[in-house]
Amino acid sequence: MEKVYLINGPNLNMLGKREPEIYGKTTLGQIVRVLKMLSRKRDVRIKHFQSNHEGKIIDKIHSIANKGFKGLIINPGAFTHYSYAIRDAIKASGLKTVEIHLSNIDKREDFRKISVIKEVCIAQIMGLGPTGYIKALEALLDAKDEESAGSKSEL
Ligand code: DQA
Repeated sequence: MEKVYLINGPNLNMLGKREPEIYGKTTLGQIVRVLKMLSRKRDVRIKHFQSNHEGKIIDKIHSIANKGFKGLIINPGAFTHYSYAIRDAIKASGLKTVEIHLSNIDKREDFRKISVIKEVCIAQIMGLGPTGYIKALEALLDAKDEESAGSKSEL
């Protein structure tokens, strides 16, 4: 059975209550539950971690490198826009990584249009709400073995 890691960054624990006009009313628990259910159909096991702390996210990425994971799906929240440390951790881990955002960061404030992690990801999915997590899982499972951090394909 393949294993996939899912990491959600700061403020994503507030989904459902947080700016529902942007992020919707679905909670993180609901998103993870549906993803786990769908992944079982593809014989894949999802492990999930959410943190509001940059260092904890980095430690988690380090700890899952070389542990037999097919890859990582990450919504780094606002860290997306400035955390070179998370970018470096993804690169160092060698994990095949898909970046996911609920909202369309290209269509929001200027500071959100920048993703410092996208170059170390094989795909960037945004603007699809909770469905984006399913697309991210599909992108990861369908990725060819030679694709890894740093070889991005456009979706
Ligand atoms: C987000 C977009 C980020 O700009 C924001 O800081 C978030 C959520 C998204 O999923 O749309 O926390 O990553």
